[in-house]
Amino acid sequence: MITTSDIEACRRTTDAARRAGRTIGFVPTMGGLHAGHASLIERARTDGRFVVVSIFVNPTQFGPGEDLQSYPRTPEADAARAKASGADLLFTPDGDAMYGADAGTRVRPGRLAEALCGPFRPGHFEGVCTVVAKLFHIVRPDAAYFGQKDAQQVVIVRAMVRDLRMPIEIVTCPIVREPDGLAMSTRNAYLSADERRRATALYRALQTGAERIASGERRSGKVISAMRRVLDEASPCRIDYIAIVDPGTLEDRPELGAGPVMLALAVRIGSARLIDNQIVDVP
Ligand code: PAF
Repeated sequence: MITTSDIEACRRTTDAARRAGRTIGFVPTMGGLHAGHASLIERARTDGRFVVVSIFVNPTQFGPGEDLQSYPRTPEADAARAKASGADLLFTPDGDAMYGADAGTRVRPGRLAEALCGPFRPGHFEGVCTVVAKLFHIVRPDAAYFGQKDAQQVVIVRAMVRDLRMPIEIVTCPIVREPDGLAMSTRNAYLSADERRRATALYRALQTGAERIASGERRSGKVISAMRRVLDEASPCRIDYIAIVDPGTLEDRPELGAGPVMLALAVRIGSARLIDNQIVDVP
């Protein structure tokens, strides 16, 4: 695995791979790599790509008072995990390389960014789109791999790629969970032992919602109430939202007709803000 923090060296390496007949698969990350990230790298590898992994803790996607300073930074462990998972190139730019002193240009997403996490994290998805667009211009991947856990991020990145006519396939990979159901997340590291135990309520709430739908409930309000009762077991916690939305448009689905819906939630336990979701096919 080659490692570089230099934009031109990154471009030269991917250009050489392209000339050698390889297609480029890209896994953008903020580090703190876990089994979820490894699954994205492995998928890109299985797809036969020359795999580029980036690690950059992107300041523009953190709001005031959020965890930019405390976000886990584990460069040695990340490099080892990226290599073991099959990365060919690890790109680790610094803040100056990505933004410079006077970089004021931003990529503003459309209305998709107003749903779900939008009201709770103003400016977050603008920061994500801005950095992902920059990384796409540097790496010029054929395909980029994202985890379904960040479902809203994937929908927004997909829309950006479509709207800006970027010739990049967006591949969504399944959520990777701990044995007790907790979705893998770098932010799980913030949880104390007690909070970690209570955090299992997120997955149980999603399962409860899916079960209610499977047993015939079609009123979202009722499903959400049942999910809320399970999340109350995680208390003390703060529920930012529990929602049932169209997985493509992220619009609320108050009544459930046939077809896929996404159950989504965001909950704060201790200092961690955790998100999770599940797609359910309504018969
Ligand atoms: O999902 C993440 O880790 C980040 O939002 C991303 C896509 C790397 C952009 O900073």
